[in-house]
Amino acid sequence: MLVVNCGQLLTLRGPCRPRAGKEMSELGLIRNGAVLVRDQVVAMVGPEDRVSRSPDARGAERLDARGQVVLPGFVDSHTHALFVAPRVDEYEARIRGASYAEIAKAGGGIQASARRMRAADERMLTDHLRKVIGLFLEYGTTVAEVKSGYGLEVEPELKMLRAIRAATARDDFELVPTLLMHDVPARLRSRRARYVQLVIGRLIPQAAREGLAEFFDVFCDRGYFTLAESKQLLSAAARAGLKLKLHAEQLAHTGAARMAARLKAVSVDHLDHLTEGDIRRLRGTRTIATLLPGSVLHLGSGRYPPARWLVDAGIPVALATNFNPGSSPTLNMQLILSLACSQMRMSPAEAVTAATINGAHAVGRADRVGSLEAGKQADLIIMDVPDYREIPYFFGMNHCVMTIKKGRVVFSRLSAVSHQHPHPPLPLEGGGERRG
Ligand code: NIG
Repeated sequence: MLVVNCGQLLTLRGPCRPRAGKEMSELGLIRNGAVLVRDQVVAMVGPEDRVSRSPDARGAERLDARGQVVLPGFVDSHTHALFVAPRVDEYEARIRGASYAEIAKAGGGIQASARRMRAADERMLTDHLRKVIGLFLEYGTTVAEVKSGYGLEVEPELKMLRAIRAATARDDFELVPTLLMHDVPARLRSRRARYVQLVIGRLIPQAAREGLAEFFDVFCDRGYFTLAESKQLLSAAARAGLKLKLHAEQLAHTGAARMAARLKAVSVDHLDHLTEGDIRRLRGTRTIATLLPGSVLHLGSGRYPPARWLVDAGIPVALATNFNPGSSPTLNMQLILSLACSQMRMSPAEAVTAATINGAHAVGRADRVGSLEAGKQADLIIMDVPDYREIPYFFGMNHCVMTIKKGRVVFSRLSAVSHQHPHPPLPLEGGGERRG
C-alpha cells in the first residue's frame, strides 16, 4: 500500500529513547509526504515524489490522504478500559458536591466497580472489550495499555487479565496487560497485611507464570495503598519479572513518584501533586512521567500536573486517557491533547510526541510502534485537518477518518464523507488566510 498526498506527514523519527526536552517538539514533519507499506511494516517514508518513484512502490495500491495530516496511531499508555458499567450516579453526586474520597468511603468508587466485576463472566468481558477496541480505533488509537484492578480478589483479577488476553488475540489492535492493585477488598479491610501477602504469594506469581501481565501497577495514594505496602508489592512484582508502573501523587503528595523511580519503574502516572523536589529526583532516571488530564477535567479538581516544569526539566512526558468509569470516562486521545495544550501549556508538537512515541516507550513497545520509520509496524492514522495543530485546537471532536493497523485499514469514514473538517475553507477572494 502506498499512502500518498499526506499534506503533513508526522513521522516522529528520531533516537530510540523516550523523547525529552526540546526533542519533544521535533515531529519529523514532511510536507507532501508518502508512506510505503509492505507486509504490515513501513517500507519507506519520505517526500511523495521520492517514495512514489521508488521501484518498490510500483504496483502498490494507492491510498489518497487528500492533503491532510497523517501520523502514527496513538499509544494510550494508561487505561482501565475493562469495566462493567458506568458510574453516573457518582457523577451526579460529585456535581452536587460529594468528593471522590467520600463516595469511596460510602462503598462507591472502585469497590462499586469491583462488585459488578465479580459477577461478570469472562466471555462477556472479552466481547465487551472487543467493542471498546472498535471505539479506540475510531478515535485513532492503535495500542492501549489495559489494567486489571476491578477484580481485587485473586480469581476476579485473573479473570480480567484472561479476558484482556482473549480480546487481543486478533491483529487489528494491541492491548498491553497490566496487573493493578487498586484497593483492598472490603472483606479484608482490617487485614491489609494479609491481603498484601496474598497478592505477593499467589496473584503475582500466577499472573507471571501464565504470562497474563507485562506490567504491574499500584494505586499508591491517600486512602489506598501506602508507600510501604506499594514498595513491598512492586518489589515482589519486579522479582517475578513484571515491569513497573505506579499511580503516584494523584489525590495527595505521598512520595510515591520518587520511590517508583528508585525502583526503576517504566512510568509514574498522574502526578497532579508533584513537587519541584520530585522533579529534581526524577531527572536523570529513565522513568517516564505519564500525565492524565482527563481525570482532572472530569473530577473538576482544577489541579493539572505540572507538564511545563517536567518538559522543561528534560523529563520525558507521555499523555494517556486513563479511560475508566470513575475519574475519566473518555477514550479520546485527541481531547487529551487539547487539555494538555490549553490547561497544561504543552505545545501541540509536544503533545503529539507524548501521545505517540513516548506512549510507546511507556508500554515497552517503542521498537515497533509510536513512529513511522522504515522497519516499524505500519500503524498510522489520517486526520481530517490540514495542520496538525488543529487536532487539539478543534477540541472535543473526532478528526480521525482512517486508522491503519499493521498495514490494514481497520477503520474508515474517508470514503463516506468527502470533507469532514470542522470548518471547511471559505471560497474567499484571493484564497483567504486559511490553509497555509
Ligand atoms: O486512575 N486512581 C486510580 N484509578 C483510577 C480511577 C478508577 C475508578 O475510579 O474507577 C484513576 O483515576
